[in-house]
Amino acid sequence: MSVDARELTAEASSLAAQATEAIAAADAEELAGLRSTLLGKSSQLTSLRRSLGKLPPAERPAAGRAVTEAIASVSARFESRLAELGERKLRERLESERLDLTEIVEQPDVGRLHVVTQTQHRLEDVFCGMGYEVAEGPEVETEWHNFVALNFPPGHPARDMYDTLYVNYGEPGSTLLRTHTSPVQIRVMQAVPPPLYVVAPGRCFRRDTADATHMPVFHQIEGLVVDKDISLGDLAGTIEAFTTAYFGPGFTSRLRPSYFPFTEPSAEFDVARPDGAWLELGGCGMIHPAVLEVCGIDPEVWSGFAFGFGIDRLAMIRFGIDDLRDFWSNDARFLEQF
Ligand code: DAH
Repeated sequence: MSVDARELTAEASSLAAQATEAIAAADAEELAGLRSTLLGKSSQLTSLRRSLGKLPPAERPAAGRAVTEAIASVSARFESRLAELGERKLRERLESERLDLTEIVEQPDVGRLHVVTQTQHRLEDVFCGMGYEVAEGPEVETEWHNFVALNFPPGHPARDMYDTLYVNYGEPGSTLLRTHTSPVQIRVMQAVPPPLYVVAPGRCFRRDTADATHMPVFHQIEGLVVDKDISLGDLAGTIEAFTTAYFGPGFTSRLRPSYFPFTEPSAEFDVARPDGAWLELGGCGMIHPAVLEVCGIDPEVWSGFAFGFGIDRLAMIRFGIDDLRDFWSNDARFLEQF
């Protein structure tokens, strides 16, 4: 086969032109394959260079330069296209991963206090506003603090009001889960000399089956006042002041005679909603002299009153909830309302 230098030069530049077009049109994936097609061992440009040897020696340098230039220019195009596509890819990635630090993110839901806890805190606030301090006592209590010191001797029929859960510790029957917050009265009076103005909120336990108005675990708040010349009038006034402070001006309270071994006289107190319905809230009374004496307080010098009521029940009245179990079913749709 005879080879012509001019033809070979023209062929080299036309191959270079075609390659340039192909490179410009290729995307990143195609480009990878193009390198061997355009510049590899079996490419047209390589075979063109091989055929240089067939030219008469005098024509080789010029034709050789043309082929070498064609190869160099294709290879340069190739590199610049590679760089261009790489840059574009980087730009696209940066754009898609861009973080706008000034963007306003919706407030994350950080949770809230349980409605009964909120109610307890509100009650503490109301009584603190009236000059009371907050005390706490143990949930696992001695039978002595829960009953005996409160004037329920062993076998006393009033113990039947409490379905007590006993703890397997010490002498049988000596340790229990407190059935009310009243034992905190005893602990406070034994530890702190009067005058006393104290509230004690906390969990209580009774062997009750859960229904709309009972739970085996529930919350009470106990009130205790010991001072000089404290009368039943002070008790009634305190209950009324608390009722309006907690529920609002439309609510009022009343006392009904009742019986508790640790108070004399004893009463139950009810709260009237603005619609006139009376709801039973708790018990109260003048502290029995025997209870003061057990705690080393002279009933000839000091007198006092006490009260106790259910926090869960209070929350039910305030928020118009008719099933106590809703508080503890942990349904976020219910709890998020408070
Ligand atoms: N501890 C009583 C109960 O759970 C409620 C009670 C009544 C508390 C009279 C008192 C009180 O402090 O004086 O049934």
